[in-house]
Amino acid sequence: MQDLLPEKQEIFRHIAHTIGDVLSAYGYREVGLPLLESTGLFERVVGEATDIVEKEMYTFDDRNGDSLTLRPEGTAGCVRFAQQHGLAFNQVQRFFYAGPMFRYERPQKGRYRQFEQIGVECFGMAGPDIDAELLMLLGRIWRELGIVGSVELELNSLGSADSRAVYRKSLVEYLSQHKAGLDADSLRRLETNPLRILDSKDPGTREILAGAPKLNEFLDEESKLHFDDLRRTLDRMQQPYRVNPSIVRGLDYYNRTVFEWTTDKLGAQGTVCGGGRYDGLFEQVGGKHTPAVGFAIGLDRLALMLEPGYEHRPEADIYVVSAGAAARTSALMLAEQVRDGFPALRVQVHCGDGKFKSQMKRADAVGARLALIIGEDEVAADTVSVKHLREEGQQVSVGSGALNDYLAKVFV
Ligand code: HAM
Repeated sequence: MQDLLPEKQEIFRHIAHTIGDVLSAYGYREVGLPLLESTGLFERVVGEATDIVEKEMYTFDDRNGDSLTLRPEGTAGCVRFAQQHGLAFNQVQRFFYAGPMFRYERPQKGRYRQFEQIGVECFGMAGPDIDAELLMLLGRIWRELGIVGSVELELNSLGSADSRAVYRKSLVEYLSQHKAGLDADSLRRLETNPLRILDSKDPGTREILAGAPKLNEFLDEESKLHFDDLRRTLDRMQQPYRVNPSIVRGLDYYNRTVFEWTTDKLGAQGTVCGGGRYDGLFEQVGGKHTPAVGFAIGLDRLALMLEPGYEHRPEADIYVVSAGAAARTSALMLAEQVRDGFPALRVQVHCGDGKFKSQMKRADAVGARLALIIGEDEVAADTVSVKHLREEGQQVSVGSGALNDYLAKVFV
């Protein structure tokens, strides 16, 4: 789990704001969901035979003996939430949530045990138009963040639960004839979750997979129409994509459209966003049929992408320097006056003792453009000395009452 230093946190904040603004502009509403849910929810929703449930959850018994889990992802909690508050069945909803998720994975660049997601879940819309909306919305987010040229959309269709079951059978039949060449993980998955073998990275297994039956040959007619319609829409809207038949996603709840946005800028952990449809999930957890689709963006990975060229704002625009006990209070009051007039400016007051010279050094170090200096003379005359730190300029004396007018001319 990582600590976020102020520079990194600033990038996270920028990303979260940017994404939140785009989502609001499309009519999505934010919900607040707990970090803990009952363990059984994730077992039912994410799937018992998935990596997440098998080996990545932080699970413990609370004081009452109930098994709880730190959420490894947000869809389960959001579905539970919508059902509990009667916000899904027969309704149209566009929700999003933000916050940390927890997975006990081997940490490396772009993969952490606590990581930040912004997730979106849409309920009550069955057609491919909402799938297209989500993908266009994501395209807009990448544009706003300035990384649209560095990410690629990969798309696939998993078909219906029934067509997947037929495919699964045929895949298992084929792979069972090539057991000797499969890696240990895939061999185990042959029994538990054979579709996950499709995204195995093992070279031997990949070779065997080249001759395996293909999922898209098994798609049911309706899923095919849904996928074709989505592709036509994306073509017309000029959103580029690549169909990648090996995208099966690591969670069990998906059907039909699944997608991932990937980048080659991050090495092995190159997926910045993943999602898809999960039309059968509500029924599976005891609710009524509710079509659903969503995605989650990994903020840690976006932050890694933005970090190299990120222009940080200075710690302060204005630094207030003072000498003497009377001046210290004047400095605090003057800073408040400036903040009233210029809420967007960063105003920092030097607190604690310090020689004038070291205060000015600090003003420079925090990147301030102006130092406001208040000494005994200034207090007596009810003025402030303004020193421009970034450009050649005289130090000028301004009456306290006229300071905001003066600043308005500097910070236009
Ligand atoms: P996911 O593919 O498991 O999907 O995670 C989504 C994104 O979270 C990934 O693409 C990645 O950017 C980020 N992520 C996942 N694990 C880590 C990690 N250990 N460290 C850093 N980043 C990570 C879901 O979570 C689904 N709930 C998405 C969804 C919502 N599908 C439908 N609705």
